[in-house]
Amino acid sequence: MDKILVEGGNRLTGEVSISGAKNAALPILTSSLLTDGWCTYRNIPDLKDIQSIKLLLENLGAKVETDGDCVRVNASGLSNHEAPYDLVRKMRASILVLCPLVARLKKAKVSLPGGCAIGARPINLHLKGLTDMGASITLEHGYVSAAAEKLTGCEIYFDMPTVTGTENLMMAAALAQGTTVLRNAAREPEVASLADVLNQMGADIKGAGTSIIIIHGVTSLNPVSVSIIPDRIETGTFMTAAALTQGDITIKNCEPEHLSGVINKLKMTGSDIHVSEKTIIVKGPDKIESVDIKTLPYPGFPTDLQAQFMVLMAVAKGHSTISETIFEKRFIHVSELKRLGADITVTGNIAMIKGARKLSGAPVMATDLRASASLILAGLVAKGRTEISRVYHLDRGYESIEEKFRNLGASIRRTK
Ligand code: EPZ
Repeated sequence: MDKILVEGGNRLTGEVSISGAKNAALPILTSSLLTDGWCTYRNIPDLKDIQSIKLLLENLGAKVETDGDCVRVNASGLSNHEAPYDLVRKMRASILVLCPLVARLKKAKVSLPGGCAIGARPINLHLKGLTDMGASITLEHGYVSAAAEKLTGCEIYFDMPTVTGTENLMMAAALAQGTTVLRNAAREPEVASLADVLNQMGADIKGAGTSIIIIHGVTSLNPVSVSIIPDRIETGTFMTAAALTQGDITIKNCEPEHLSGVINKLKMTGSDIHVSEKTIIVKGPDKIESVDIKTLPYPGFPTDLQAQFMVLMAVAKGHSTISETIFEKRFIHVSELKRLGADITVTGNIAMIKGARKLSGAPVMATDLRASASLILAGLVAKGRTEISRVYHLDRGYESIEEKFRNLGASIRRTK
């Protein structure tokens, strides 16, 4: 089992280039199932989750070719409508093949994604929308089976904005008969980027990126050649690292537009932030101001950066609160951060953080892929050595993370 070792105390300075967004690449890769012919995707990050989805697409009968950060998929040979448990359990986002399979093969059998470290993560909204469009759905033996001779457009209202739920149903609606209106849809940039790709394939989707998305179904879609948008969560992780270490980091190949909520909050901590076309420069303050945050659906503060920001608050000079409104259990990193000396009290979905703590290195364990980056951030400022185990969680969501931090001056290495 790999471990990552971090020696604390270094200021981070220099340049880092952001990889393609995992959460944009995953739905776009599954959208290849909606057409025949070769789809070409560039700027695909080299991550475990991407490996998983490529394996799944091949398992369904698609051809997949990889050349560096370019992945090509041809689903002409799509034949198997079943996504087995041993592939789905590795990655929940496998549920994103459900609707493309029903749209193309008129049926799908997908293992129910288990819960994970951060919560139950049900898919009831995905299934309700698909049922509304005319699919019959049964749940048995841990699988969801869906079938529909044809899908018919309709009005779908999401009880709460769901990112993959919006993406799944947008793909079903693209080839349905008639018009579908998704209300209370997720507004994340990854949803808008999927809509852009589907429209380039010949779909007719308007309003993606807002809470009302209108999709006029078409009879078929064509192959496409596109590039994946930058990863806003990786960008926010490095911005936080600069704020944390009184650093001075130039973040390139990013999309500042996707981070307005995060930029606003980091400025309130005293960080100096300069934004240009595809670059963000962050200079960390000598004294970090404490700031309260509440995670919200986009464009609010992203839940995927909550743990990283918590580290910043643990060493800030005052008290702060973090309320996590998206996932019911996304505070598992708190016990690990407390091992490093953070003073955090969790009551329900609120974490109260007493700042001005001096962190000290210790062995800790990664749990959920995004929050685990917070352990590296804590290691950067903890006195002595922090040893992070179960780094496979990190490898699911961050490409070459220790190299990127080392190139910025961190004392960090991976051991087998
Ligand atoms: C996406 O997960 C991301 N994953 C998550 O990143 C991210 O944390 C999350 O959105 C929130 O921004 C991908 O895009 C692959 P949701 P998703 O459906 O779509 C509830 C990562 O791996 N809900 O927007 O699964 C749900 O329980 C992850 O990078 C239902 O109740 O999240 C949650 O409380 C970590 N029923 C809320 O909605 C449903 O049918 C938002 O979940 C669906 C969701």
